[in-house]
Amino acid sequence: MFELKPLPYAYDALEPVISAATMRVHHDKHHAKYVETLNELLAGSDSAPDSLEAVVRGAAGKADARKLFDNAAQAWNHAFFWDCMAPGAAAPDGALADAIARDFGGLDKLKAAFVEEGAGRFASGWVWLASDGQALQVLSTHDAEDLLTRRELTPLITCDLWEHAYYLDHKQDRQGFLEAWFDALPNWALAGRQFAAAGGQGAAWKHPEPKVKALGTAAVH
Ligand SMILES: [Fe+2]
Repeated sequence: MFELKPLPYAYDALEPVISAATMRVHHDKHHAKYVETLNELLAGSDSAPDSLEAVVRGAAGKADARKLFDNAAQAWNHAFFWDCMAPGAAAPDGALADAIARDFGGLDKLKAAFVEEGAGRFASGWVWLASDGQALQVLSTHDAEDLLTRRELTPLITCDLWEHAYYLDHKQDRQGFLEAWFDALPNWALAGRQFAAAGGQGAAWKHPEPKVKALGTAAVH
């Protein structure tokens, strides 16, 4: 069974861009529901998964596993998203800063591309900064889709484009939310580690493993 990953900061740590009220609903209700549904679906399967990454990749593209994919991917996306934010974080540095300058012409132009991509994504989804090991790119995905099924891409940071992520604080102004988010909240330290992992140095971010790996095994706490 997968557990709801706790927030790595206080509910109000991301204010004023994201209010404590939004975080309580987003983490404690939306993210929790994805994890709850994921576990209900897995409880009816024959084998227990080793990782959430394996669940997402195993269900991707299978018409009879759409609900499992949606909930597993959303559980993964949200856990990663919480870690993609760090209030008061410093700007990108080192190799990542060099790559941003090389591939976008600087952080301001990366911001413009990120905001344009996220604001332009119709309906719900996620906007990503990713690396293919050679170059950085900005892209967006629809609904629950993420980059786990695109093994050539390592996500560096992501931002949630679903209305539940910003509507309480920014109403319909997704572009305004993204601009404020990019200025204040990206965890560039995590992005730097992800960038290094894309280049073969270190391991990329992984979701915490499930508590019980094998069916029939008593839970140990
Ligand atoms: Fe969300």
